[in-house]
Amino acid sequence: MAIIEFFPDPESLAVAAVQYILKIGCRAVEERGRFLWVLAGGSTPLKVYSLLAGQGSSQILDWEYVHLFWGDERCVDYQHPDSNFRSVQQTLLEKVRIPQANIHPIPVLFSPEAASRQYYDRINSVLSEGEGLINGFPRFDLVMLGLGADGHTASLFPSSPALHEKHRWVVYVPHDQKPPPLVDRITLTLPVINNAAHVIFLVTGSNKAGALKQVLSEGKSADPLPAALVQPHSGSVVWFVDSAAAAGLKSGPQHT
Ligand code: 6PG
Repeated sequence: MAIIEFFPDPESLAVAAVQYILKIGCRAVEERGRFLWVLAGGSTPLKVYSLLAGQGSSQILDWEYVHLFWGDERCVDYQHPDSNFRSVQQTLLEKVRIPQANIHPIPVLFSPEAASRQYYDRINSVLSEGEGLINGFPRFDLVMLGLGADGHTASLFPSSPALHEKHRWVVYVPHDQKPPPLVDRITLTLPVINNAAHVIFLVTGSNKAGALKQVLSEGKSADPLPAALVQPHSGSVVWFVDSAAAAGLKSGPQHT
């Protein structure tokens, strides 16, 4: 059952998301000695990364025990403006004391198939150290996702064959149509996302209102949008949405 948290604006949403992430992270470190966190790409999470880079979070969460992964990546150099790694590097990684060995970006300087294999190997080697593999899939403590105006999430786009992947953890997604950027992608698959302990979506802006309404209200649609397929079998989903994105929903109590 998805939980929806309503916020008046992106700023208050980001503050609440940081509090939630820190809560999940501290609990993971206490219980399992580390926090396995999959980051979202795109622009919406950048406010969250910037807030986490502030002094406060380092007093609460010891970055020494945090492992960062990416949910998807564009097949561009890490210094390219479209790189999801670059966004996190500039807003967060340069400002917190996280061990380099705990940063696990999706490789991009190989063929997409080789990069997917490399990322699988990295995930497998890090997560199999502890009890990080459950049901034969990685169990991340937190997977953070965005929502595209077309209902995609990570790099799982409508009508993509990747939506039907049942075994591979990481796949290459050729991407030569809207939404931009028109670059090939590498993405985690639904079996991995749906094996997570906690999933959060961060959704802001009126351009997401149509997709959000369809995802949250479509029930058992014959052709669900990709984000509607995110249903962790033994985990939680919390939607952090601002008023503009929630325009089509019967909004609940607003966090003021
Ligand atoms: C990506 C993201 C993608 C993103 C949505 C929303 O690499 O583009 O993983 O799934 O979360 O497209 O993007 P914005 O936050 O920029 O609206």
